[in-house]
Amino acid sequence: MSTTAPTRSIADLPAQRAAAPKTAAQRTARYFNTGNAFNIQLPPIPDHAFTAEPARALDPDTPTGLIDCDLSAHLQIPVPATTPLSLVRYARIRAGETLNTDFAASGVIVYVMVGSGQTICGDEQIDWNPGDVFVLPGGIPHRYRAAPTADAVLWIVTNEPQLAFEHLRAPVGGGAPTPVVHYPADEIERQIDLIYEIGRGQDIAGSALIFSSERQEAIRNVLPTLTVAMNSLPPGVAQRPHRHNSMAVALIIRGDGCFSMIDGKRKEWSQWATTITPPVAVHSHHNEGDGRAMFLIVQDGGIYYYTRAMGFSFADV
Ligand SMILES: [Fe+2]
Repeated sequence: MSTTAPTRSIADLPAQRAAAPKTAAQRTARYFNTGNAFNIQLPPIPDHAFTAEPARALDPDTPTGLIDCDLSAHLQIPVPATTPLSLVRYARIRAGETLNTDFAASGVIVYVMVGSGQTICGDEQIDWNPGDVFVLPGGIPHRYRAAPTADAVLWIVTNEPQLAFEHLRAPVGGGAPTPVVHYPADEIERQIDLIYEIGRGQDIAGSALIFSSERQEAIRNVLPTLTVAMNSLPPGVAQRPHRHNSMAVALIIRGDGCFSMIDGKRKEWSQWATTITPPVAVHSHHNEGDGRAMFLIVQDGGIYYYTRAMGFSFADV
């Protein structure tokens, strides 16, 4: 039996077409094979930190508006995207001014970095303050107004690229998977204190506070695909290195003296940066500062829980 490699390979074939199509539907068919259309390799989600975008959002000269953290060119995605399923933005709203949004998303996650104000969503209103987290249903316009005395800066995450991938539209008429949900800063603090008071074993991956709602209580997420958690790290503590198939985008709220290790590479933290932890990468976050680090994390973990493919493991066992 010959061991010589074949001179031709199905991997080198271009898209094949019907030889004699009888209809337009047959003509539009394309045929690939295991050699050229299986285990497709797309540009990986990079180990990246957005620092110019928050600097612009925090600049008093920046007008009211949205600033995208957009990696779509690198990722080869035809719509603005931070990761394949999520889009992170900063919003600056000048004192007394209004920002209107109407995202093609099923849900919108918001963290209040600076300032106070209100958001109107349908017939509901949220009065927000620094450190608050809130979630809004997609499919209806949202109106943000900053208080008349000071500018506001928000961190906003949506799943617009997820919907765009399937050419889906935002749900209308109350079809969104989430209602309006508000997590005020003082309640977040209380819940984190409770987590530390009770403690945990080393088999639990961290001390994150995970946000959910009455409607999402069964899946313990905030949206079917996206999970949101306020993670914290006491001074002198390092996470156990681990990996999972979900990506993470994190807003660094407080992180003096903190850094991450991503696949063996050190990544410094800076306040208000949005940092991406790529899927599957072995990673750990380290606090060598004097205060408790705080970082808000959005992951596409829901889709991996649902497909039974989270792939979580500690890397030190
Ligand atoms: Fe992680």
